Amino acid sequence: MMSPIRIGIAGAGFAARFHLENLPESGVAVVGVTSARAESRETFAAQHGLRVFRSVEEMLPEIDLLDICTPPSSHRDYILAAAKAGKHVVVEKPLSGFYGSPGRYDKRHMLAAVVEEAGRLQDAVRQAGIMLGYAENFVYAPSIQKEREIVEKTRAQILRLVGEESHNGSHSPVYGIWSIQGGGSLIAKGCHPLGAVLYLKRKEGLARLGCPIRPAAVSARTHSITKIPGFEDKGFLRTTYQDTEDYGVLHVVFDDGTVADITASELVLGGIYDFVEVFANNHRTRCRMSPVNVVDVYNPRHEQFKDLYLVEKISSNEGWIPASPEEGWSLGYGRELRDFIGAAAAGREPESNLDLAIDITLTIYAGYVSADDRGRETEVPRL
Ligand SMILES: NC(=O)c1ccc[n+]([C@@H]2O[C@H](COP(=O)([O-])OP(=O)(O)OC[C@H]3O[C@@H](n4cnc5c(N)ncnc54)[C@H](O)[C@@H]3O)[C@@H](O)[C@H]2O)c1
Repeated sequence: MMSPIRIGIAGAGFAARFHLENLPESGVAVVGVTSARAESRETFAAQHGLRVFRSVEEMLPEIDLLDICTPPSSHRDYILAAAKAGKHVVVEKPLSGFYGSPGRYDKRHMLAAVVEEAGRLQDAVRQAGIMLGYAENFVYAPSIQKEREIVEKTRAQILRLVGEESHNGSHSPVYGIWSIQGGGSLIAKGCHPLGAVLYLKRKEGLARLGCPIRPAAVSARTHSITKIPGFEDKGFLRTTYQDTEDYGVLHVVFDDGTVADITASELVLGGIYDFVEVFANNHRTRCRMSPVNVVDVYNPRHEQFKDLYLVEKISSNEGWIPASPEEGWSLGYGRELRDFIGAAAAGREPESNLDLAIDITLTIYAGYVSADDRGRETEVPRL
């Protein structure tokens, strides 16, 4: 019998929790956790019976796979450290970005820096021969996987895709700060539907033409709607964005001339609003991520359900609620982590890999360049 893959988790917050909850039941041994704050890593370790490490460096010798669930600005250094130590990596979205203030650096400079960094990451991962799983859960959502199967088996040509992820603002206190997040809605939320559409076009290309279809150019706009002088704050939307956009749209042109339109915002009430819709030459599919209409619950008074978790980012548990009983399944977390563990054990590429992560990152930063030019079409760089 093969020995289990020893996992160390970096980060002790929201993503660390759902990673831990969705890991496969066999073939893995979660060794320990580290995070920037002693209090958070100790609480997390005590809750889940894990060892506490003071740093990633201290944890690396004891593990086979580093699971990076820390804020985006730390992803690059942790990937490079794991690669240097010859350890596999799972990294939360976004892969990486540019973490200097937009007041000091223009977007072309950011894009050039991100291209260079992507090259460094690619070299480090290839030379180390490790598995890197890019934790884009949309790729693994059952609806997107069903659509992949339809596209591959019917050799469909996808002509147009539409996708969105929006809600009323992140829970994280460090959200809205470019130097930690590397951008606003486009990178933090838009990366999810963008990841799914780039994945589906890759799969279509491989099935029909023998090579992936990739993003070639992008036009984008970004806005800070909660900062416009006439915005009337009724207290339902988060408004504390330091230097990032709260609304963004990306129009992607693929190298075969087909298109995708992505919207991402912090301006949507009523829970997470996320979907991908596919318009192909032989079918049309609506992929719902959350909620997925498994069960609707009616609660006449919020108070009686105040301690119940029903669905992500809904601000009240009163009235009809589209409850999400199994988000690990509907949002793809379980399938994602099973694929990464299987890929690390078998020495194969995962479905959501570094190549996809790099295309997503470069498309978004080309989008930021375009948005600075009020939507002018901008080429997506290739490594
Ligand atoms: N796939 C998804 O649906 C999804 C959802 C939420 C967050 N995320 C991603 O997960 C990552 C973490 O987000 P979160 O919501 O869990 O944040 P969080 O604020 O809840 O938790 C972050 C954790 O990382 C620790 N930390 C901060 N800086 C660190 C550093 N330099 N080194 C080590 N530990 C550090 C913090 O102490 C905290 O424990 C982000 O990349 C985010 O984009 C993904």
